[in-house]
Amino acid sequence: MVEQLPLKQTVAGSSPAGRTKNMFNLIIFGPPGAGKGTQAEIIAQEFNLVHLSSGALLRQELDNGELGAEIKRYQDAGELVPDSLMVTMIEKAIIKGLNKPGFIFDGYPRNLNQAKSLDEFLNKNSLEIALVLNLDLNKDEAVKRIMLRGQTSGRSDDNITTIENRFETYQKETIPILDYYQTRNIVTNINGQLLIPEVTEQIMAVLKKLI
Ligand code: AP5
Repeated sequence: MVEQLPLKQTVAGSSPAGRTKNMFNLIIFGPPGAGKGTQAEIIAQEFNLVHLSSGALLRQELDNGELGAEIKRYQDAGELVPDSLMVTMIEKAIIKGLNKPGFIFDGYPRNLNQAKSLDEFLNKNSLEIALVLNLDLNKDEAVKRIMLRGQTSGRSDDNITTIENRFETYQKETIPILDYYQTRNIVTNINGQLLIPEVTEQIMAVLKKLI
């Protein structure tokens, strides 16, 4: 049975607030190193949502022969893996989580094509995105965080050359989808520059008004 997350109020422009089937679906958005993964984990735990991290899904496949090698090539170059691969992977993960109270998408969608295909797939399942949390912070802080993590993460894309490319990809391909969601009036900006608990506090304040 699907657990219920009753909404206290609707998000302007989205009716009824982002879900049928009593699911609440949101996107955590922001540049590399913004804290998407960190905050998504906390939110997912608090509201029992499925944390869908596209980067983590891809990294799980790194040991998988040809596919893993292909993913690694894109990740090491700081480029997006092809939509054909990413979209299929995400749709499979969504299907697995349909009995949960909702999804938090972390690192997905990453371009306009992914955003549109996500909408189509969610609509087919009588679902929609209720909210986009946009973590706002400057590049220097984000780079500092990734470089620090790189000392222990084992992620081959946590190095300065790849980070520069990841930022370029973000600017070119990912930023434009904010407009796509802004026209639906479902984007909330969060100051991502602060300490982890302070960022969490801002997010919780937004979510507690909605859920
Ligand atoms: P992905 O894994 O999504 O990487 P990313 O977007 O570059 O994000 P990061 O994981 O670096 O940062 P984050 O915002 O999650 O921050 P985190 O919480 O980890 O993607 C990697 C690659 O996979 C892409 O380049 C692409 O090749 C491919 N890919 C992924 N999705 C794809 C898609 N949809 N389509 C096509 N290709 C795709 O925090 C970072 C660090 O900072 C951590 O050490 C954390 O502890 C620390 N930290 C967090 N918050 C704070 C804070 N407030 N203060 C201080 N430190 C903090």
